[in-house]
Amino acid sequence: MQTQEMIDLCLKHTMWSWSARGKVNPLPIARAEGIYLYTPEGERIIDFNSQLMSVNIGHSHPKVLEAMKKQLDSQLLYTFPASATEVRARVGQKLAELVPGDINTFFFTLGGAEANENAIKAARLYTGRHKILSRYRSYHGATNACMQLTGDPRRWANEPGTPGFVKVMDPRPYDYSFGESDEEKTANNLRYLEEVITYEGPHTIAAMFIETVTGTNGIMPPPAGYIQGLRKLLDKYGILLVCDEVMCGWGRTGKLFAFEHYDVVPDIVCMAKGLTSSYIPLGAMGVSDKIAAHFDDNVFWGGLTYNAHALSLATAEAVIDVLIGEGMVENAAKMGAVMRSEMDRLQAKHPSMREGRQIGLFGMIDVQKNSKGEPIAPYNGTHPAMGKLAAFFREEKLFTFIRWGSFMCNPPLCITEEQLLEAFEIVDRGLDITDEAFEG
Ligand SMILES: Cc1ncc(COP(=O)(O)O)c(C=O)c1O
Repeated sequence: MQTQEMIDLCLKHTMWSWSARGKVNPLPIARAEGIYLYTPEGERIIDFNSQLMSVNIGHSHPKVLEAMKKQLDSQLLYTFPASATEVRARVGQKLAELVPGDINTFFFTLGGAEANENAIKAARLYTGRHKILSRYRSYHGATNACMQLTGDPRRWANEPGTPGFVKVMDPRPYDYSFGESDEEKTANNLRYLEEVITYEGPHTIAAMFIETVTGTNGIMPPPAGYIQGLRKLLDKYGILLVCDEVMCGWGRTGKLFAFEHYDVVPDIVCMAKGLTSSYIPLGAMGVSDKIAAHFDDNVFWGGLTYNAHALSLATAEAVIDVLIGEGMVENAAKMGAVMRSEMDRLQAKHPSMREGRQIGLFGMIDVQKNSKGEPIAPYNGTHPAMGKLAAFFREEKLFTFIRWGSFMCNPPLCITEEQLLEAFEIVDRGLDITDEAFEG
């Protein structure tokens, strides 16, 4: 098929996430390997966002492809959810070993939203309470309940949703400030949160969901002491802590799970994306021993046709082996330091660069319109210079996401220093474009 025919047919017969069909300009991709995507014409594009921050080990790793083929050949692909399979046994055991603390029991789903949906159910069934707290600067998935969990503007068109979801501000909101120092931000935000909990009635709140490190809404590591303080505050009221590690988990931040940076263990952890590096759909909800024990005697009222799919689990097993066996979590931490120094270099050089945030290979650059630090684009808005920057990245064959006045830096965790510097060299030239729009 010719590339244009492929694009035209995709546009004619398929719908696209978060888009009006007439405005989509899809990227033609024929194959992908390592950190690179290839167009049908063989053009090489650096994947500087691991697609949806999800292809953590890089594309088409031969060991994973081999394991997937082996599973296909075993004639065990799909069996109904109440079946025991060897791969289900192995992956359950492996996750129990790898996920810190007392999280030893897992419910398999097809993706992140389903993991969160089931975490909502588990939290409500376990506590007997119905309200769920989450934060405005968050994305938790596109299903009905996850849209109500989500704080960002993708929620708006999906309202009104089901009742019982209460949103609060982060310690680092978009504009409002809880203080200057980390200590102030943490203390003031937690004080505010405790007051919200009081107003809502602690006995009505089942859980609070957080992205341990906020992803799409800004790649924002929490201020010092916040996660630990949050854990204590929620414990005081018997509210469960659910860490949504769909994006920040599986090595992205330089540790296997982001909550390991903060020495806490949540009651429930949700994962997807990096679990199979997105080679095939799979998500999981992991619950603590006390929650698992509750469901020894009480029914877990959730189910999925594709729960514990053997091919997905075989893929996860191989992906985890590669991620850990090839030292990619350590590489994320090491290359994160290179990303840090590149961000600092670019900030010193480009007046339009407001800030570069990163933890491991989870990074974002904010663009400002003036020296007062005003974002170049308002909340949920755009600016022509960001459009030009997007066109430039596409021309220069650097794939990444531009969102409002910021853009993402989330390459696969197998990236080398040389490859990372090549990507930042393109970013460097791209920031010349936004510098032209800088108002001084
Ligand atoms: C933090 C977070 N949670 C949940 C989801 C939803 O995952 P999925 O698209 O697999 O349903 C995403 C997807 O981007 C995410 O980033």
